[in-house]
Amino acid sequence: MNQARFRHFGEAQRDDWALIDARFRDYVEDAPRRVLAHLHNLAGDTHGYPVDRYQHCLQTATRALRDGADEEMVVCALLHDIGDDLAPANHAEVAAAILEPFIDPLNTWMIRHHELFQGYHYRHYFGQDRHAREQYRDHPAYVRTVRFCDDWDQASFDPDYDTLPLEHFLPMVERVLCRTPRGGLPEPLPEHQVEHD
Ligand SMILES: [Fe+2]
Repeated sequence: MNQARFRHFGEAQRDDWALIDARFRDYVEDAPRRVLAHLHNLAGDTHGYPVDRYQHCLQTATRALRDGADEEMVVCALLHDIGDDLAPANHAEVAAAILEPFIDPLNTWMIRHHELFQGYHYRHYFGQDRHAREQYRDHPAYVRTVRFCDDWDQASFDPDYDTLPLEHFLPMVERVLCRTPRGGLPEPLPEHQVEHD
């Protein structure tokens, strides 16, 4: 049996949850492959930019790597815009949510706020305050977020840059996304320990 047969949770037994839990763990382990498959969705249409979002992500990660950023930061650079096609109005939230269980909370904050910080380079063209990021000047992730945007993100639209291919980053993505998620995953109890009402 590789599939539970209950019709609603009230019919489910401990063995059903053990089966689902085992399948879920396999699914979790496969998450890096699915995330990278989604990254490929950013290839193609440039939406008017000099490079498409896929090349932009690779270039951002390449620049971070060459500047000596640690592995987690390089993975953040690679995936920071992965939400662009699903959530163009708040894409930073998607990448932050994907990475949050596996990375330093300050890096999650950095990704979640990178759009506002990146705005220093373009918000004034839209009548917005380019200095809006200064409201976070005292935040512990301020400096890294400024560096992320100024040195790597906003700089990575160069079609002639010597960008590394995705294959170069695959082991890094697997190592970060295969970390135990913060708080761990609950395991099913032995039947005799399950408390039924
Ligand atoms: Fe970006």
